[in-house]
Amino acid sequence: MKRKVLIIIVALILIVTVALSVSLLIFKSGKAVENPPEYVFLYAENQTEDYPTTLGANRFADLVYERTGGRIKVLVKYEAELGSESEVIEQMSYGGIAFARVSLSQLAEFVPEMNVLQMPYLYTDSEHMWRVLSGELGDEFLSKPESYGIVGLSWYDAGARNFYSVKPIETLEDIQGMNIRVQESAMMADMVSALGANPSKIVYSEVYSALEQGIVDGAENNWPSYESMRHYKVARYYTIDEHTRVPELQICSKAIWDNLEEADRKIISDCARESALYERRLWAEREKSSRKVAEDSGITVIELSPKEKARFREAMSEVYTKYCGDQMDMLQKIMDY
Ligand code: GCU
Repeated sequence: MKRKVLIIIVALILIVTVALSVSLLIFKSGKAVENPPEYVFLYAENQTEDYPTTLGANRFADLVYERTGGRIKVLVKYEAELGSESEVIEQMSYGGIAFARVSLSQLAEFVPEMNVLQMPYLYTDSEHMWRVLSGELGDEFLSKPESYGIVGLSWYDAGARNFYSVKPIETLEDIQGMNIRVQESAMMADMVSALGANPSKIVYSEVYSALEQGIVDGAENNWPSYESMRHYKVARYYTIDEHTRVPELQICSKAIWDNLEEADRKIISDCARESALYERRLWAEREKSSRKVAEDSGITVIELSPKEKARFREAMSEVYTKYCGDQMDMLQKIMDY
């Protein structure tokens, strides 16, 4: 009798479990069948999960999903999961990856006429750069990468870049002879050579170990990168010279863009611009909080004196001739904006 009751109980449990699983499956597949996204696109980002550009990407993905009624789903892959910036740009040129946020330094390697927007000591301040990017000129430059199979969608902020190293940099002589990491950018390498230092092109994700192992003595970047990639733990002297302001772009593969309906392109473009406004707000906050984290850890912050800054700037004349020689009118226009 006891055995019979036990068998009945076990049988009942099994029936309930199977019924539950089946209904769950039906619910799941029912939902998926009702609302399948028409497109699922990859978005490449090389920063950490909580970085302003990654949060901007998430905002972009959410807006696109919402405004297309779930037809277009964008999957944001951060921390360079889809490859380095130059690998991503290359893949995008033939449609391997749909979206990305990249540094203009990397895009200018494929589209050299974009270098003019990142020349050393070009902008007087952040407002100057944003006047240039927010107006007609900014739109004109967003369309330049089309020749390389890339559509520019919006501009993201990345603040000003400064040098940091294992030894203090207070004068031009201090940086001379140092091995300095630069992005995979010819212009950045020439900029560092013009200062009398030795540039080393190293991919972003490997800068921390290059500094830690003494492969380079220093690098250059904005406060949030210095902090989020933990460079401040190994390069303890941060010299504020604001040598460049390198804008960043949200981009789309033209191979994919050309196959989208006009209405979807409009939604994507609007969402990119809206997410950019959000990113700029987050950027301003993160610049301050990252600086605080680094300073609280006891790093030494050096403000380059105006006299030394003038010497750094003067050393750039050959770099300007090399990269802007045939764009002097555009350069002047940017300076006067
Ligand atoms: C910034 C930028 C990155 C870039 C990095 C670098 O952090 O946001 O996109 O890769 O500079 O120095 O390589």
